[in-house]
Amino acid sequence: MELRKVIEKRRTVRDFKDEDISTEILKYAIENAFKAPSYNHLREWDFIIVKSMETKLKLIESENLDKEISIDELLKVFENEELIKKEMYLEAIPKQKKMILNAPVVVIVVFRPKKRIEKADRIYDLNCVASAWCCIENFLLSLAEHDVYGVTYIPQHTDKIKEKLDIPEELEIAAIIPIGYQAENAKILKQKEINILERIHNERWR
Ligand SMILES: Cc1cc2nc3c(=O)[nH]c(=O)nc-3n(C[C@H](O)[C@H](O)[C@H](O)COP(=O)(O)O)c2cc1C
Repeated sequence: MELRKVIEKRRTVRDFKDEDISTEILKYAIENAFKAPSYNHLREWDFIIVKSMETKLKLIESENLDKEISIDELLKVFENEELIKKEMYLEAIPKQKKMILNAPVVVIVVFRPKKRIEKADRIYDLNCVASAWCCIENFLLSLAEHDVYGVTYIPQHTDKIKEKLDIPEELEIAAIIPIGYQAENAKILKQKEINILERIHNERWR
């Protein structure tokens, strides 16, 4: 498929059909993920494929996603934000638990940090995170090519998840990605329009 078409096709989806994804599609996307650029040439990434309710519940529990969310509270938190950003958060936040539970597959992308993330003091120290995200984008684009979509959820309680899923202590979690075919009524938010001419700078900022 033409690259531009796949790039445009990839969108964040949080509502999934109850339909499994073939091993071939998953394998193809993971193979392409491993073709991403990697800061130290080692491609130190791993993919944990989660399908069972038991493991999904461990994720929900670790992330405290069980709590009820008050829309009024959310409205207050985002009241001064740009409308397009507010709309995204109001759509996304209430769906965090459901999207993990309803996705036929949840993929956890794990990487080896250069040094402990909390000890990073230069952008350079975050090369491992940047590389993991290059790998994630290849993964998402390759899924979109096959009409499979996902949403990158960033966990906040990675130590709990690592413990519950036996992930070695020295590794880190880049994202938890519920993936699947998009439900009939899946909401795809409008992307913010960017005038790229305002974002391209020649030789210096202005
Ligand atoms: C680094 C990163 C973190 C994100 N975290 C979350 C998240 O925790 N939960 C969620 O529902 N979406 C998350 N998203 C998805 C964004 O909301 C989504 O990419 C954005 O609204 C743009 O929409 P699009 O992907 O359809 O272009 C994240 C995306 C990125 C790149």
